[in-house]
Amino acid sequence: MAVMTMLAKEARNKAKKEDNSFGASLTARKAIEEFGADKVIEATLGVIKDENGVFATLPTFEKIYRELPGNELCDYAGIPGTADFRDAAIEFTFQGHQPKGTFARAIATPGGSGAIHHAIYNYVGADEKYLIPDWCWGPYREMGVECNRQYEMYRCFNENNEFDVEGIIEKSKELLSSQEGLLTFFNTPAHNPSGYTMSNEDWKQLTDYYREAAEDQSKRIIVLWDMAYTDYAGDKDEVRDFLKYFDNMPENVLLLVAFSMSKSFLIYGMRSGALIGVSTSEEIIDEFDRTITFSNRSTWSNGSRGAQTALAMIMADPQLKEQTDKERQEFTDLIAKRAAIFVKEAEEVGLPILPYKAGFFVTLPANDQFALCDELKEDLIFSIPLDSGGVRFAMSALPSSKVPGLAAKVMKHFVEGNYQV
Ligand SMILES: Cc1ncc(COP(=O)(O)O)c(C=O)c1O
Repeated sequence: MAVMTMLAKEARNKAKKEDNSFGASLTARKAIEEFGADKVIEATLGVIKDENGVFATLPTFEKIYRELPGNELCDYAGIPGTADFRDAAIEFTFQGHQPKGTFARAIATPGGSGAIHHAIYNYVGADEKYLIPDWCWGPYREMGVECNRQYEMYRCFNENNEFDVEGIIEKSKELLSSQEGLLTFFNTPAHNPSGYTMSNEDWKQLTDYYREAAEDQSKRIIVLWDMAYTDYAGDKDEVRDFLKYFDNMPENVLLLVAFSMSKSFLIYGMRSGALIGVSTSEEIIDEFDRTITFSNRSTWSNGSRGAQTALAMIMADPQLKEQTDKERQEFTDLIAKRAAIFVKEAEEVGLPILPYKAGFFVTLPANDQFALCDELKEDLIFSIPLDSGGVRFAMSALPSSKVPGLAAKVMKHFVEGNYQV
């Protein structure tokens, strides 16, 4: 008999299909080669492209990086990251809004992905479930499979397309009634894939609940703030204002932050970021530091030194910081302009979308998302079918000139194919 698999039993069922995002991007690339870039609407991956469709970088970051000496690029960075990077990551993440009364520590990881992996692996028990949004970035689920952990989903939006805080609280109560710890994910502001930004009222209600739930000292309440798109969501102070609700939290509430340099500095391929732990207890933070450092050593060891050094240099020099902020702001404005056209036209033609506030993506909920994406390809429109049940368009990757008329074309397929929300 021919050998059917060489995989261990536990690894056999995890890679059943190709990755939706990178698969769609590859198909779009082939279409560009065949039909020319000007004919193709390439709205797949969450990268920024400029108005000529060229991959965008922050020029100041790029210059600093290119001028680093060989040892700063090639040497080890130390398992938790260089000391300067660890401080810089905290300073950049909070920008003066670290919750009051807390200790914070950053451990370098390969992007936000590495941070999320370590959070799941170390803060969710094998007999527990972690809670993620029903509309979410796919690896939130896939990393659970990889780490042998179970998840459950909360509903993001109710029937009126409004954020469903009550639903999250209900789900949390349900899970905490049968398990000791609960790790819950929030990707806000500029949520992937909806573009929703949680309001201060949303956060107040949630954190009031966490304070109440933490009165039972046997419970471990862990909140993961995936801040991936925060720096493209508006004023840096306004988007971080909600952190005040984490001031002086009880010791059994831990805030974890997944910081991604892929997004904040547009260096996706350099694989840099951090998991940041925030707690009112120094002991809990020492434990976080030791444990996440151990996980680094036992997975990918070190992070990329050049990216770490560049961030430390930017945070040490107010002029460099100001320059990179300004360059990022220009892209933020550009994406907001593109999204505003799409959202306005969607409303005009009656195309249903999730409640967009800011960021890279706009999403159309649709029942048969894979078929709809295939139909859109006939018009050379490339988007991403989401397992959550919808189609995502990356405004970040689409030059403004290609946005007008897009919503109407999508609507035509949506109606003719009799798709449902
Ligand atoms: C919601 C969300 N979180 C985290 C990430 C992590 O990205 P990276 O590992 O490149 O930092 C991404 C990337 O697309 C994302 O969309």
